[in-house]
Amino acid sequence: MCGIVGYVGKRQAAPILIDGLYQLEYRGYDSVGIAVSDGNSLEIVKKTGRVREIEGARGLRGTLGIGHTRWATHGGINVENAHPHTYQRITLVHNGIIENAQKLKQDLLQRGEIFSSETDSEVIAHLIADAYRGDLLSAVMESCARLDGSYALVVFCEDEPRKLVCARMRSPLVVGTGKGGAVVASDLSAVAEKDATLYSLNDGEFAQLSETEIDFYRSSGDKINKFPIAFDLEEGNSDLKGYRHYMRKEIDEIPDVLRLSRQKFDENFRNSDFCKVLCQTEYIHIIACGTAYHSGLCAKTAIERICRIPVEVHVASEFRDSDPILQSGTLVIAISQSGETADTIAAVRLAKRKGAYIAAVVNVKYSSLTRLADTVLYTQAGREVAVAATKSFNAQLMTLYSFAEALAAVKGRRAPSLNGFERKALRTISLSESVQSWVPYFVGAKSAYFIGRGEDMCTALEGSLKLKEISYLPSEGYAAGELKHGTLALIEPYTPVVAIVTRREIAQKTMNAVHEAYSRGATIFLVTCFEEYCGMDEVKASVLIPKCPPVFSPVLSAIPLQLLAYYTSVARGNDPDKPRNLAKSVTVE
Ligand code: M6R
Repeated sequence: MCGIVGYVGKRQAAPILIDGLYQLEYRGYDSVGIAVSDGNSLEIVKKTGRVREIEGARGLRGTLGIGHTRWATHGGINVENAHPHTYQRITLVHNGIIENAQKLKQDLLQRGEIFSSETDSEVIAHLIADAYRGDLLSAVMESCARLDGSYALVVFCEDEPRKLVCARMRSPLVVGTGKGGAVVASDLSAVAEKDATLYSLNDGEFAQLSETEIDFYRSSGDKINKFPIAFDLEEGNSDLKGYRHYMRKEIDEIPDVLRLSRQKFDENFRNSDFCKVLCQTEYIHIIACGTAYHSGLCAKTAIERICRIPVEVHVASEFRDSDPILQSGTLVIAISQSGETADTIAAVRLAKRKGAYIAAVVNVKYSSLTRLADTVLYTQAGREVAVAATKSFNAQLMTLYSFAEALAAVKGRRAPSLNGFERKALRTISLSESVQSWVPYFVGAKSAYFIGRGEDMCTALEGSLKLKEISYLPSEGYAAGELKHGTLALIEPYTPVVAIVTRREIAQKTMNAVHEAYSRGATIFLVTCFEEYCGMDEVKASVLIPKCPPVFSPVLSAIPLQLLAYYTSVARGNDPDKPRNLAKSVTVE
């Protein structure tokens, strides 16, 4: 993970780096640092914690600099391990993991070199310093050829004080002109402005930046002609707009996101040959992690029920190390908000090697996954800043349900209507504010449980992940029917249990599990579209969501659970936008 940024130009570098790092903080917030050069001397400021810790460095003088916000992988969270790392005349920031760092370090130690951190990144600084013979670009190229693993690098050498060299391998990097000079960062948000011209680096590519020139190279040393990427400044806008937290703001954006994602799917689909692929599709494998995995589970229930096509859903980190059977007629759908999740990308690479056609459901434009996929179905969630996925989950569902509808049409089957969800989501958000009254039952609880059947079980898994991720309360999502096979033993008096009940045929069965939990003292909360269950004695409180085709109900039923997690997190004194130990974009395997 980690976020990196660099600048060389006419303006003072420090404020540009610090403002950029605030935008990249979602990628990690264990420690932060910048290095700024005025052409003669280099000053480095590093601190543990968030970007605000280096606010005092805004006044550093110098028009070249690099910065980093860290999500720790190699080495503890301390100032020594914070970036930038320096060895001799070389200073760099790194995002990624160098898999052969230990081996390389042993060799360097044997040569008598001294290390000041436990990081794999410092090893790269040593390699570059050793390879340096007056040309930074060549030294970086030579050193990168010795690295296994992933890296996005921005490197500076005090002997060439008006130059930055960048390299990319499996970690994102955007390079371009802007802010009166040249800029580089892990993503657009840190450097985009109205008149910027930005380019996305591909794996194995290098860039050399000076105030007036940017050159791109392959590892062979050949120059590359690159085309700028189109970006929409509004999309990158991450203003809180009066909200206290991004997560709460992003939940309120769900209705718009549903409408836009549905529109976008129709455009994508009309303009692509994907339709032909669907005609030949007989099996579907879905690959994803975390919340995106849960949207995959919801999609499976919808696609199987509507299209009668078998779907398997895989946790990407498991799939990538398996020996999957992908027979002909198999479509692989990879789902990822960021499009940078290392496990999902590795799993897609494996599926591609096995000859599968890849459709990617992705939110972030130009992300790595979009470049690997045969077809991209963009969700329209806009920028999601909070680490806990909310609107991106609902957007993924809308895109995947639109896909199910399109597949049904190709296969001559009828799908239920997807109309009216924008309005229903708006109503659901307003009804769900009442979950604030549930919070006192969760704040001090030892653990919490979410149960449901069918699509409601998928929602239960997502509700549980949301709660544990930002409130740090142990919680489990469970198939309601499985409760009695073991987990019921954990139910004690006042244990909160949330049941999701949206499908008429199986509602009573979920309610049986509710009775079993209630009999053991559980406090029961309900998310349902059936009014008759809300008034039951067993039910402490409920949210009555609008009726919709049950197969699509997770789009709505997830909303009260997202809000429950948010309000519980706030009540427990946490920062729901930046939960401990986590980061938004998980680019390590
Ligand atoms: O960017 P991706 O959708 O690939 O990310 C996958 C997971 O890391 C992500 O959904 C994670 O589980 C969220 N923090 C959950 O809220």
